[in-house]
Amino acid sequence: MKKIEEYVRSIPDFPEEGIIFRDVTSVLQDADGLALAIDLMQEKLKGVEFDLVVGPESRGFIFGVPIAYNLHKPFIPIRKKGKLPCETVSIQYELEYGTAELEIHRDAIKEGQRVVIIDDLIATGGTNEAMVKLIEGLGGKVVKTVFLMELSGLKGRDKLKGYDVESVIAYPGK
Ligand code: PRP
Ligand code: MG
Repeated sequence: MKKIEEYVRSIPDFPEEGIIFRDVTSVLQDADGLALAIDLMQEKLKGVEFDLVVGPESRGFIFGVPIAYNLHKPFIPIRKKGKLPCETVSIQYELEYGTAELEIHRDAIKEGQRVVIIDDLIATGGTNEAMVKLIEGLGGKVVKTVFLMELSGLKGRDKLKGYDVESVIAYPGK
């Protein structure tokens, strides 16, 4: 059986020189790779008591929904600005160049609900930090975050001190 690392295609100098892009499509386009990725991420939730899975558009949806489905939990999407039709709360956060904005429906999380965040990747940690703020702003409690991949060299975890964060694959670089 192949290891999960073997399904991830690494593309040098994308999107810019010096960056190695860790491509998740090569995991998804293999039935065994997809199943292994979901299984390994889901394993990190063993023994975790929670009410909801939250995932960010768009790659967070790919992994968040099957895990929520398997564990029979609701899935709450966090979307890029302007996509959600009902009342939202939003947050701006810093990207390497410029800013981005994420939104969640105000009624999606109730006070005291225990939330698991699922995403494909932690790089700078900015996306996850913004999601934690949105969730906590609605009274939710983030009990765990699971990523498929982590770029340890970018030190995204520094933004998530005090939170339970796990990744399936950790790459030492950026
Ligand atoms: C990518 C990735 C993570 C985020 C990680 O999403 O899917 O969500 O960046 O980066 P960070 O830790 O530096 O915040 P992106 O915003 O590129 O959009 P996508 O999921 O729609 O491809
Ligand atoms: Mg993303």
